[in-house]
Amino acid sequence: MNKIVIAIDGYSGCGKSSTAKEVAKKLGFTYIDSGAMYRATALHFLNKNLSPLRAADVAEGLKSLQISFQQNPTTHQQETYLNGVNVEDEIRTMRISERVSEVATVKEIRAALVAQQQKLGQQKGVVMDGRDIGSVVFPEAELKLFMTADVETRAKRRQLELLGKGEQASLEEIKLNLETRDEVDSNRTESPLLKVSDAIEIDTSSLTFSEQVEQIIDLVKKVTLN
Ligand code: DC
Repeated sequence: MNKIVIAIDGYSGCGKSSTAKEVAKKLGFTYIDSGAMYRATALHFLNKNLSPLRAADVAEGLKSLQISFQQNPTTHQQETYLNGVNVEDEIRTMRISERVSEVATVKEIRAALVAQQQKLGQQKGVVMDGRDIGSVVFPEAELKLFMTADVETRAKRRQLELLGKGEQASLEEIKLNLETRDEVDSNRTESPLLKVSDAIEIDTSSLTFSEQVEQIIDLVKKVTLN
């Protein structure tokens, strides 16, 4: 399989990360979760009591921010590290979901994370998911996908995911968070979430997980055969 860049963008909670992870595994590609980087940044600002909306705080926060990914030797899952500390579970909590969109509106923060994402994707053979991957991070990606799903389906999936990690949240609370994040992510000035003209839309509302993955693998085959 030729080493290409696969950019997956879309709304919050429509299964981008889990799908991207599985596609990468099947292709022997590297998976990069760009949302985890924004989440780790939000946690960093909270830990240090810094406001992403104050220029001096942003400069200070970015100076002391170091994000990396490491594979867990037991589960073989990739996990997120913030300044050397494993924050994989903490960044998935509702506390961070409620703060992350604000952090992601800040130009300087985006510039720093995009630079790191581009470096990570330099070698190709990469699947990266997020909101601006096809538009800003890898505008030359060989395959661009835009994933959607209705908000009810997304909220139910997210609730199950949180429950699996021992966090209880009501469907209403989750739905409101997804809708608020979609609204902020789509309407911000800096790199808003949008479907670029050369992206292929995949609506996952009525697809099973393996159907989602297979659809993408088929598209990869088409792209790499051309
Ligand atoms: O993919 P996720 O839900 O873990 O992302 C968390 C937030 O980070 C999301 O609400 C918007 C922001 N984000 C972004 O602005 N750009 C990206 N490339 C990835 C995520």
